[in-house]
Parts: sequence; C-alpha cells; structure tokens
Amino acid sequence: MTKRIAVVAGDGIGPEVIDAGMRILDKIDADLAFTYFGWNADEYLRTGISMPPGAMDDIRHNYDAVYLGAFGDPRVPDMKHAADILLGMRFQLDLYVNYRPVKLLNENLSPLKGKGMKDIDLVIFRENTEGAYVGMGGNFKKGTAEEIAVQEDVSTRKGVERIIRHAFEFARQTGRKSVCMSDKNNVMRFGGDLWLRTFEEVAAEYKDIEHFHMFVDALTMQMVRAPEMFDVIVTNNMFGDIVTDLGAALQGGLGVAASGNIHPGRVSLFEPIHGSAPKYAGKDIANPIGAILTAAMMLEYLGFNDQAARIERAVIAAIDAGETTSDLGGSLGTKAAGEAILRRL
Ligand SMILES: NC(=O)c1ccc[n+]([C@@H]2O[C@H](COP(=O)([O-])OP(=O)(O)OC[C@H]3O[C@@H](n4cnc5c(N)ncnc54)[C@H](O)[C@@H]3O)[C@@H](O)[C@H]2O)c1
Repeated sequence: MTKRIAVVAGDGIGPEVIDAGMRILDKIDADLAFTYFGWNADEYLRTGISMPPGAMDDIRHNYDAVYLGAFGDPRVPDMKHAADILLGMRFQLDLYVNYRPVKLLNENLSPLKGKGMKDIDLVIFRENTEGAYVGMGGNFKKGTAEEIAVQEDVSTRKGVERIIRHAFEFARQTGRKSVCMSDKNNVMRFGGDLWLRTFEEVAAEYKDIEHFHMFVDALTMQMVRAPEMFDVIVTNNMFGDIVTDLGAALQGGLGVAASGNIHPGRVSLFEPIHGSAPKYAGKDIANPIGAILTAAMMLEYLGFNDQAARIERAVIAAIDAGETTSDLGGSLGTKAAGEAILRRL
C-alpha cells in the first residue's frame, strides 16, 4: 500500500536539506506519495496563519508520516509559527516517543580521545509530550522587584509508563542489553518518585534486559567519559532535550543527527535535530546528512528496512571517502554532498 508523506521544508536551511533528502527518497524503491506544505515563516508573516484550519486533522487522517526540515526565523522572535506547527504536532498528534539514535558513523568523527564506533552506539528515548514543555505556570507581580515566576514540570503515570515501556520493548526487539533511566529524583522528588517506581515496575516485566538508574548530572559525565556503558537511555522531556544534543556532539555534530517524533502505529514526524541555522541559509553550506538519515529513519518506521539500511551504508561510504560538507572536514556544498550519497545509493 502506498505510504503518504507530508513534506514540510520550513525555514532557513530546512528547504536545502529537505531537497537533498527528497532526491534520495525519489530514487529509492518504495511506494511513497509526497505532498508538499509551504508552512514557514514567510507564509506566516504574509498571512498571519501558521497552519491553516483543518490542517492538523488532514495530517492525522490522511498521512503516514511527516518529513520536516527546521523552523526558526529571526523575523519571528517569539517562534509563534514554529510552536504552532512543531509543538502543535507533537502534542496534538500525541507523538510521545522522541527517538534519537546516537551512532558514530566514522572513527574520525569521534570527539572523544580513544573512543570509536564500537563505543558510541546508543539510543536515547526522550518523553515528548509532558514535563516542562506543557507550558503550565505563570508570573506574579511581573516587572517588579517582587516578581515571582512558577514553571511546572508535569509527569503522568500514563505518560511515564508508555515511554519507559517503549524503551524496554525497543531494547528487546533490537537485541540491546540494557536500559538506563535518568532523572534527578534527589531534587525533583515527586515526579522523580513516579519515574523511578514506574521504571522498576516495567523493568520487572523485561527480565531479559538489564536496567539501571543514573542521575542526569552523572549521565552527562559518563556519556563523555564512557559512552560504551549505554545501550538505551530513557529520560524526561527537559533532560532529553539536553542529553540528545550531547549525543549529537558524540556522533559528529548537529549536521548528522536524525530524530523521530513517534506515536507507534500512527502518523509520526521525522526531522533532523538541527534548527534552521539562519546564517547558513541559502548558501549551500549546510550538511544534508541529518536530513538524509532522517529520511532513512522514516522509511524504517514505514516498514522499508532494507531501503533504510542501504541509505545508511551510502552515507557511511560518502563519509569514508571524505565527500562531505565542511563541518565534517570535507569541501563540498549541500547539493554536492547529497549527490555523493545518491551516487553510492
Ligand atoms: N526542530 C527545530 O526546528 C529547531 C531545533 C533547534 C533550533 N531551532 C531554531 O533554529 C534557529 C537557529 O537556532 P540555533 O542557531 O540555536 O540552532 P541550529 O541547529 O540552527 O544551529 C546551531 C549551529 O549548528 C550548526 N549546524 C546546525 N545545522 C547544521 C547543518 N545541517 N550543517 C552544518 N552545521 C549545522 C551551525 O554551526 C549552526 O550555527 C532558532 O530560531 C531556533 O529556535 C529549531
């Protein structure tokens, strides 16, 4: 059956990297149908509309996946359009799994002395619909010397359990040995207590998978000191936001990192983890690998596993040959780096 994909290139370098990804998707032998949506800062500034009425329901009912570039434009300082579209989809489509593989694709890309491809190969699952990102809180006596600001961090049993269960299920299905849950329950006692109890209860159902807990401050240290000790990491929205960028640095930088925002079995959203990098926009500088590996991840989600593996092999071969953009030490532009991968495919 044809899989329907909504393509949203977005702002800044988004259109360039999505173009590179689309050239790959157009060539791959998978039954895919694409619809382009021009939601971005230009459109928002022109019309005042970030996402037209009914668009979210259209995506929900008529598509299998969304392939997205990046959002962010200096002319929209409050990021209103990005919040409406990106956070809107995460929350309204209930995309509770943020899936972030951290895999070093070439020994030379390692930023860590003595650590290579066999050491840097882990997966982070970030809870994607709760935590500090629900935007609950407020200000009192704003603008005065007595101002108070309160920002709530929300965890629900349902939300915590489903992301932890997903991490264990993933570990079992992919032959990973262990799951590490990371939080800060020595300070955030109430939410942390819910996370820890739920973790222990779910772990008891997966006796074939090792499990351990680590405070998030210790986690950041160990990811740098001894990344080989991690297989699967599961954590909340805020800590996940931070440690996934650390993960990107371990695998060669923001230019190569892919992510999925997933509700298993339903329409899900796939995007490179970098932002719109406005200073690079339109200059043929941005690394397209993050967007291309994101396309591979989307194919895998849609059941095209062989095609996804072939794309990853082509990316690795292009990196091995040094045919990359400058952030990875090469001398190619966005287009040529994408072509180098396409040729090998
Ligand atoms: N999911 C998203 O759409 C998303 C994520 C992060 C930031 N943003 C937004 O993007 C805008 C810029 O934010 P930022 O500068 O903090 O983050 P950014 O990821 O856009 O860029 C940070 C730096 O990372 C490097 N970089 C990023 N992508 C790269 C690529 N493909 N190739 C090579 N180098 C790359 C560049 O040096 C860049 O200056 C802001 O408006 C921000 O809010 C959006």
